[in-house]
Amino acid sequence: MNIILLGPPGAGKGTQSANLVEHHGMRQLSTGDMLRAAVKAQSEVGLRAKAVMERGELVSDEIVSALIDAELAAMGDDVGAIFDGYPRTAAQAESLDGILEKNGRKLDYVIELQVDEDALVDRITGRFTCANCGEGYHDRYKLPEKEGVCDKCGSTEFKRRPDDNEETVRKRMQEYRAKTAPILPFYEDRGIVRRVDGMAAIEDVTKAIEAILAS
Ligand code: AP5
Repeated sequence: MNIILLGPPGAGKGTQSANLVEHHGMRQLSTGDMLRAAVKAQSEVGLRAKAVMERGELVSDEIVSALIDAELAAMGDDVGAIFDGYPRTAAQAESLDGILEKNGRKLDYVIELQVDEDALVDRITGRFTCANCGEGYHDRYKLPEKEGVCDKCGSTEFKRRPDDNEETVRKRMQEYRAKTAPILPFYEDRGIVRRVDGMAAIEDVTKAIEAILAS
């Protein structure tokens, strides 16, 4: 099964992908994670993407589609893909069609996480992750069970994303409204869009997504 998780910054795409990876053996293809890895490695792509990401704008379609193309080609045919944060423009949606076809895959669902944007600013600015294993936490909604210690790996190092400040988050949302939300009709015409209330509790969002995958 191949699915797209669609929703504005902070909608819960990464959180829900983690569940699908852990319990359904799917593979998360997050262009945001790939770009952050490139920035960290100071690769050519990373050097081109860094400032764009810090401004909350979109990296070029060519760069992100090339990243997805390479990742998908390297994946086993029997592993389902979760596209997290890709496609984000009409050009990317068209590229994805070609990439899927080339790899003998088809898109099963586009799952839109419907959310209240004002609440998302609070979600994102409170978010942090374990610097060692990447487990996600939140200042108010999901603190480690033991203060300062990662539940998953025991590390005491945590980090926050440089683009998780209010000004950049608002810019990222503006980009979502202007360039990403308009691709929904492209998939609606194919009858594969499903909607989930992304403001529900994390476990309830997970259940709703699992019900779609089982349908
Ligand atoms: P990217 O990394 O994709 O960021 P994003 O889309 O802005 O999404 P986030 O990762 O911020 O949010 P999320 O929906 O995954 O939410 P999460 O699960 O973490 O992109 C970053 C940048 O890279 C872009 O701005 C752009 O510059 C560039 N880029 C990436 N892809 C690109 C592309 N295709 N084209 C061009 N440029 C691209 O949840 C957020 C928080 O809320 C967490 O703390 C979580 O615990 C909490 N939470 C989640 N669900 C719930 C819930 N139901 N209730 C309460 N809390 C919740």
